[in-house]
Amino acid sequence: MKTRVLGSLQVPAIGYGAMVLSPGVYGEIDDTRAEAALKTALDAGATHIDTSDAYGADGHNERLVGRAIKGRRDEVVVATKFGLAIPEGESSRSQPVGYAFNELRVNAEPRLVRGYAERSLRHLGTDVIDLYYAHYPDPGVPIEDTVGAMAELVRAGLIRHVGLSNVTAAQLRAAHAVHPVAAVQNEWSMWRPADAALLATARELGVGLVAWSPLGNGFLTGTVQALGDGDFRHNAPRFSAENLSSNNDRYAPIRDLATRLGISPAQLALAWLLHQDEHVVAIPGSRTPSHIEENLAATDLTLHPDTLARIDEALATFEVTGGTLL
Ligand SMILES: NC(=O)c1ccc[n+]([C@@H]2O[C@H](COP(=O)([O-])OP(=O)(O)OC[C@H]3O[C@@H](n4cnc5c(N)ncnc54)[C@H](OP(=O)(O)O)[C@@H]3O)[C@@H](O)[C@H]2O)c1
Repeated sequence: MKTRVLGSLQVPAIGYGAMVLSPGVYGEIDDTRAEAALKTALDAGATHIDTSDAYGADGHNERLVGRAIKGRRDEVVVATKFGLAIPEGESSRSQPVGYAFNELRVNAEPRLVRGYAERSLRHLGTDVIDLYYAHYPDPGVPIEDTVGAMAELVRAGLIRHVGLSNVTAAQLRAAHAVHPVAAVQNEWSMWRPADAALLATARELGVGLVAWSPLGNGFLTGTVQALGDGDFRHNAPRFSAENLSSNNDRYAPIRDLATRLGISPAQLALAWLLHQDEHVVAIPGSRTPSHIEENLAATDLTLHPDTLARIDEALATFEVTGGTLL
């Protein structure tokens, strides 16, 4: 598996996003299927697993990851996040996120950060988190203060690297001045352009880029025709029956290009992303072993400059229907 560097952390170019494994995200799923998916991911080389204390109820997702890494902890880069699973009785601030969720509630106050980390360590059954992200900036707390508390976790040996998710260029710069940031994790895919200022700042500071939802919540695989029960995408305007159908029509040129190249649209979407920057890492999610293996095979694809140009041309006229993402 080809590797990439996030700050000073070496990871496979394509890792694994575990959010899909908790019930109520992409519909119902049981732990047997979730455990099989994680085992496939690790066995196939996706040894960078991304989770969060907010995925599933009461640390469900972290516990799944904890069981999967038992006995093979040294093979795995474990990344998790804090700030959205707020202890009862604590205050929180609104973070508008648009799209399917409208807003999230955040508490990233420094006084809570150690408790968050200790809870995640318990759920994960490990004594250190390799990459620990603030899941969203807390609108009521200067990011420098949150990162100051994370730096203390590094000094205490509870975490190895500091990460930030869903930040702006200015927030990254301010945080990095307090403690080196290894990675920023923001949404980035063919239907979610990167924030150019954030990219430039990350490059300048030597911060790695982790692209979340690199398959556009499945849309870019070209296989989503309808949604099942309990799927959060029912709340996402881009996936309403009417919009999904017109978005699928508009995505046809890229789907067709993948077919002509003899690869799947999912592989093309991931390979395209890896070609955007030498420090970008993708963390697609999947519950399906064959999809996991198909996705990982995209690390070995080299796209010809003409292909990249053709994709950029198609994306320039690919107007997504169904709301802007924040
Ligand atoms: N930091 C943040 O705020 C944030 C927010 C969202 C997500 N994330 C991270 O990003 C990770 C990935 O995001 P995501 O799961 O929302 O979106 P994604 O990776 O863009 O898409 C996942 C969807 O794609 C489908 N899929 C994957 N590979 C496929 C293939 N080869 N062919 C057909 N379908 C395929 C999956 O279905 P199957 O299960 O059927 O394969 C699933 O429905 C999450 O797990 C999480 O770690 C972070």
